[in-house]
Amino acid sequence: MELVFATNNQHKILEIKNAIGDYYQIISLSEAGIEEEIPEDFDTLEENASQKAQYIFDKYGGNCIADDTGLEVDALEGRPGVFSARYSKMGNLQFPEMEANKGNIKKLLIELENREIRTARFRTVIALILNERKYLFEGIIHGSILYKASGSEGFGYDPVFQPTGFDKSFAEMDLNEKNMISHRAIASRKLVDFLKTCNI
Ligand code: IMP
Repeated sequence: MELVFATNNQHKILEIKNAIGDYYQIISLSEAGIEEEIPEDFDTLEENASQKAQYIFDKYGGNCIADDTGLEVDALEGRPGVFSARYSKMGNLQFPEMEANKGNIKKLLIELENREIRTARFRTVIALILNERKYLFEGIIHGSILYKASGSEGFGYDPVFQPTGFDKSFAEMDLNEKNMISHRAIASRKLVDFLKTCNI
């Protein structure tokens, strides 16, 4: 079965393919011929994932998935959360010239300077539109924010996120290792379990 995935982020595509297996053919936005920016205007992961999936469905007309992810840091009352992608370009402390991922990590480490409580979680919501109906799947992984970036695998906040029970960051894990435990893999497995119950 073909599923258009509302992203061109190659890391996310690999992670979803790896978690979902070969039976479902994941098609990126560019492969589906959709070139424009997909809107994500809402204040919750659920609404953003739904909005992106709906946008693709309206354009493309077939079954599709979209995800939205947030890093929720306890010492920051759950920030940056749904604003994780734009974090370094918002608020008092901004790094407008810096590449987004680098700026985000820099801002996070500054905001957590001298903070001992560093617990956090990644939360992903995947929205599926299947036969014109929408379904949501959530994946959460708990961990903590390191004092400095470590590792070069993965993407986004991976170099500063250490999952609970591990002694290395997501960016020090290879794809298979991250995919055994990650928020996106957990949500993807729920998606696959659901598709199997539909005999798809
Ligand atoms: P989005 O889901 O692509 O909007 O991602 C929101 C923010 O979280 C972006 O800054 C991403 O780089 C980051 N992000 C999403 N998924 C991951 C992940 O698996 N590891 C690290 N950062 C992530």
